[in-house]
Amino acid sequence: MAVQITPSILNADFAALGAEVARIASADWVHLDVMDNHFVPNLTFGPAMVEAIAQSTDLPLDAHLMIDDPDREAPAYVEAGCGSVTFHAEATRAPVRLARELRALGARACLGLRPATSIEPYADLLPEFDTILLMSVEPGFGGQRFLDVVVSKIRRARELIERHGGEIWLQVDGGVSPDTIERCAEAGADVFVAGSAVYSADDPDAMVRRLRDLATAASRLG
Ligand code: DX5
Ligand code: ZN
Repeated sequence: MAVQITPSILNADFAALGAEVARIASADWVHLDVMDNHFVPNLTFGPAMVEAIAQSTDLPLDAHLMIDDPDREAPAYVEAGCGSVTFHAEATRAPVRLARELRALGARACLGLRPATSIEPYADLLPEFDTILLMSVEPGFGGQRFLDVVVSKIRRARELIERHGGEIWLQVDGGVSPDTIERCAEAGADVFVAGSAVYSADDPDAMVRRLRDLATAASRLG
């Protein structure tokens, strides 16, 4: 699977999101961090804002739901225009049921794990998901330091994905930058969220392309 860069707009200029998304034309997906001020101590936006962003870009949208009740709320993000919806293992009451519901609506069904959440309990469920998202920071804010302890978890997750087959994507989210992306790619990740590294750059689109080149060169997935 080719490397994909999915920039987060969490650190973009919220007063000009349409223009901010236009600055990352080389992105594979736009990563939308939805936060409810319960699952994480931050509040961002909901389906109405997602729908407005969907109308402002042709790039596919990757919703990352850091919310308390994804079983009830997640389908609305498919209706709002997201082609991929990630819900957290720590928040859902019925991960398989929710994943099947999202797939039935035509979206990719993705499971997110906080840094301290083990992937082992989900090994046998992997075929139910299209992407596994591993947080490499505590969720809630952009601009945090990458947690190197997650690299071994990336490697383990890749081992489990290879055992269970399928085209499951392995996404890393948090503190991804030119300084950290290569070890994530070498460990087996193939999809990368970058927020502050992209939007703090003078040329966000050039940074997207640089991150993709670094990850492609470091990837052992071929
Ligand atoms: C954090 C979000 C991440 C974050 C990434 O809870 O899920 O997507 O915005 O931002 P950086 O790349 O700055 O860590
Ligand atoms: Zn995210």
